[in-house]
Amino acid sequence: MKTRTLVILTLILCIVIGTSATMPQQDEKKQPEYKNLKVLPKKISHDDLDKVMDHYNAALGVKCNFCHVRNEQTKKLDFASDAKEEKLIARSMMKMTNKLNVKNFGEKKDQYNQAVMEVSCTTCHRGKSHPEG
Ligand code: HEC
Ligand code: HEC
Repeated sequence: MKTRTLVILTLILCIVIGTSATMPQQDEKKQPEYKNLKVLPKKISHDDLDKVMDHYNAALGVKCNFCHVRNEQTKKLDFASDAKEEKLIARSMMKMTNKLNVKNFGEKKDQYNQAVMEVSCTTCHRGKSHPEG
């Protein structure tokens, strides 16, 4: 009886170890390599990048494809591509917004040593892609 229990326990242990060894590495998910960040910090986490992009969607009242071009072969958005003019405009808007913040609220820094966003895209856009001048 005792040997049997031991055999079963050993088997379970083997299965557990075996499964965890074949699991995909979580680290790779946590540290995605973004290919084309020119304004945002390159070491930005996946969660923080998502938050920034979600803010753009909400601030402008658009979806991701407003700025990101669709790759017709993969049928997916090519986030690294700069093919859409809106993305380029957005990048200069990011710099402009950053400047406003550094100039007026420059004392406050976040974890990436960037100025804390007092002025955000929403300040002017308020849910519209094309705000009144
Ligand atoms: C208003 C325009 C705009 C919208 C809307 C937008 N993005 Fe972006 N996105 C940008 C810009 C600009 C960059 C590049 C930032 C930089 O250069 O630092 C970027 C970069 C990215 C990147 C990094 C790509 C790389 O490898 O360099 C990802 C991923 C991404 N966006 C995903 C999304 C997702 C998902 C959404 C929708 C939830 C979204 N974006 C909505 C403008 C936008
Ligand atoms: C100080 C006010 C202000 C702030 C802050 C601001 N924008 Fe804008 N944005 C404008 C105005 C005004 C226009 C229209 C420009 C024009 O008509 O030429 C515009 C236009 C745009 C466009 C082009 C829209 C189109 O229909 O072609 C994009 C994309 C954009 N903004 C993204 C952003 C993003 C992303 C942020 C935050 C990082 C941001 N803006 C912050 C004022 C602002």
